[in-house]
Order: sequence, then C-alpha cells, then structure tokens
Amino acid sequence: MTSPYARITELNTHIGQVVRVRGWVTHLRSSGKVAFVVMRDGSGTLQCVLVKVSLPAETWEQYGGLSHETTIEVAGEVRSDKRAPGGVELAVTSLTITGPSPADYPIQPKEHGIDFLLDRRHLWLRSGRQRAIARVRHEIEQAIRDFFHKRDFTLVDTPILTAAIGERSGLFSTEYFDEGTAYLAQTGQLYGEAAAAALGRIYCFGPTFRAEKSKTRRHLSEFWMVEPEVAFNDSDDNMRLQEEFVSYIVQRCLERRRDELIELERDLSKLETVVAPFPRIDYSDAVRLLERKGSGVKWGDDLGAEDETLLVEGHDRPVFVFNYPKEAKAFYMKENPDDPRTVLCNDCLAPEGFGEIIGGSQREDDHDRLLRRIEEEKLPIDAYGWYLDLRKYGTFVHSGFGLGLERTVAWICGLPHVREAIAFPRMMHRLRP
Ligand code: 4AD
Ligand code: MG
Repeated sequence: MTSPYARITELNTHIGQVVRVRGWVTHLRSSGKVAFVVMRDGSGTLQCVLVKVSLPAETWEQYGGLSHETTIEVAGEVRSDKRAPGGVELAVTSLTITGPSPADYPIQPKEHGIDFLLDRRHLWLRSGRQRAIARVRHEIEQAIRDFFHKRDFTLVDTPILTAAIGERSGLFSTEYFDEGTAYLAQTGQLYGEAAAAALGRIYCFGPTFRAEKSKTRRHLSEFWMVEPEVAFNDSDDNMRLQEEFVSYIVQRCLERRRDELIELERDLSKLETVVAPFPRIDYSDAVRLLERKGSGVKWGDDLGAEDETLLVEGHDRPVFVFNYPKEAKAFYMKENPDDPRTVLCNDCLAPEGFGEIIGGSQREDDHDRLLRRIEEEKLPIDAYGWYLDLRKYGTFVHSGFGLGLERTVAWICGLPHVREAIAFPRMMHRLRP
C-alpha cells in the first residue's frame, strides 16, 4: 500500500505516520553518514533526514544527485522535533528525483544586484523573502474583499480598455478597431460612479495603467488599485471609511501574517499603532508647516515625496491631507463651497515616509461645473457624455477613493521599493519576464 501525500504544513497532524511529500530542495548538508535535505512545497519547509546505514544503496545514491531546486518526492515517517522548522522532520525511507536541476541555479545565498534578480524574477519568487511578501500581499487582497463584503459593498468590475481618461498622468494607448484610440484604464472610478447610482456602495479592484516616465521607488506602470464609491458619502464620511479600511488591513496582517512580517524583519510596533482615527491636516496648514520645516513648496503645488515624509514626521499612524488646490488635482473633484480655490479631497500618507497610499475625493455633482472643468482641462467632451449624464439624471452627493495595492504592500512589509510588492513588476525599463 502506498502512503498518502501530505503538504508540509499539515505534517504535525501525521506524527508517527508514513507519508509522501513532494517539493523542491532548498538546502543540503551531509556528514557522509547522515544527510539532511531541506525542502519546500509552497506550504512550508521540511527537514528530511537520511541515515546511510538504514537506507537502500540506491536511495543514498539519489542524495548525491540533488542540487538546489531539484524536484523530489520523499517518503518516510513524520517525527516530532522541537528544533526543526515546523516542529517536525521526516525520517526518509525513499527518495525520488522527479525534476532534476543543474548545479548552476542562478540565485545563490549571497548578495545579487537588483537588475540581476529582476531579470530572474521567475526564479527569485521562490526565495523566502519573496514568498513572505506574496503571502502578505494575498492577505491584504483578501482583507480588502472581506472588508467591503461585510459592509454590503457590491464588487463591480470596470473596463480596462476605455475611451475616457481619468487622471492626468501618462496614458497607454492602442488602436481599437474602427473606434479610434483606446486607453488602458488609469482608474475604474468614473465607471464606479455610474455603478454607485445603481447599487449605492460599490468597489472595483483591478490592474490600472500609467505611462509615467518616473523612475521612483513608488511608481509602477501597471499597479493594482481598489476603488470604493459610495452614494451620499461626503468628503468627511470618505475619510472615515478610509481610516477604518486601512486600520482593518493592517490589523489583519498583524493577526494572520505575523510570521511573514517577522521574516521580513518588519518592526511590528510601527504597525500596531495604526488605529483609527488618523490625524487630518488642511492643505493650507500643511504648506505652512512645510515652509517652517524648510520645504520649497508653494501654495498651489501638489506635494512631493519629500514633503509627504516631512508631514508624517512624529506621527505613529497615517495622516490625511485634505482640500488641495483645484489646479493640483483631477477634474472630477468637487469644488469646496467654503473656498472655491480648493476641492473636497484628501490624500492618505503612510507613516515612516512610505508616502501617499490613497487618493480620494467627493465628486463634482453639479452638471455645469463639471462640464466647465472638463472644458478647462481640454478633455474630449464626446467621451464624457455618459459621465455627465450621471449629473443630469438624478445627481447625488458621492465620494470614493483609490488605494494603491503595491504601495500598501510596500509599507506593511517595510519594502524600500514597490517593485518587490508585485510578482512581475512593470516599470519604465522593465517588461520582462
Ligand atoms: O491618487 P490617484 O491617482 O487617484 C485615483 O486614481 C482616483 N481615481 C482614485 C479614486 O478616487 N477612486 O491614485 C490612487 C492611488 C495612489 O494613492 C497610489 O497609492 C496609487 O494609487 N498609485 C500608484 N501606485 C503605483 N504606481 C503608480 N504609478 C501609481 N499611481 C498611483
Ligand atoms: Mg494621488
């Protein structure tokens, strides 16, 4: 009778039993009489012990054919061992190589340059640190879906090929049959607004594209964004939703991905303080504060990365900057009735200098004002007829925001650059692998 296959994470429920495990070799060590094979199967890491005298000669010989990343199948008894990773080890009775790997596996336990690693991203994903990041990212995505699902938001999938432009940053375009130019969506928001009038509370969550010629630590040309849109929420409600949302995501990672965060050497005390409410600074006050701190920023400018870092100094949780000047922000934001030079919007700045993770706003719900803004920005009116209709047929106060997934992953994991926060990053100079 052949023994059952088990995943490494489940082995602690098989102590004393004989099982088979499949996976890849990560470390090898041998004294000549006893050999250790550390393997991973995606669920965990397992130490396998081979004792020469108690094994058939072929099995011991198979050991000699192993190298980093060889795919193997082992069988043996699961033994409890406090010192082993996962608290168990496998006393191997048989070992089969199912996928050999030449000895020149490029990623070695030493320092490699970032371009070397990115060129081999398809293999780099297998390393412990990258696996930890992938699991935290997964947890964040799941937390996002759970947060909105529990609050009765409907997920609406918005198009990637669009005719209407959402943001000011660069556009990727392609020919679209006889319809002229199609743009890859920079945001799903405009479609989300239409859906909010149908469903009340919605969110979209998908890849977005920006042809930004910026080589910063925070910019990707393809990134994932989650964008809720809520009928009858004003800008203040919007910020409240954001702080609850961000706190929920962080606390969820602390609860469920502590091991991964520890593996990433993240200072957990810096995440534990991320609890709503978050401090709020009016844009004009922010500019005054920045001037006192020696920034060259002038009223009217959007805030740069350095300004954002200066603003969060001394705060143990994210900070909202609200009501930016109209000229610094997108056309769809609602004019502030108390100061028409500004719009009802906010950015949410992560602590520790991780920068803007959210951009949000109350939307312009006045048809004629919105039309004027579209004209001022010289956007193609014919592509916005449907968007203006939302203000014609039953206009409504509404607000929403976009949270950048990779920036959030980078912040929670403590990564200096967003390129490690997604499996296959797309940047100005990187389209492969
Ligand atoms: O501030 P942004 O441009 O806002 C919007 O797109 C709105 N339509 C959102 C909304 O109100 N529904 O982008 C939102 C967030 C930023 O705060 C940032 O986290 C992320 O998206 N982001 C990027 N992330 C990685 N690479 C880039 N090039 C990014 N551009 C924006
Ligand atoms: Mg923004």
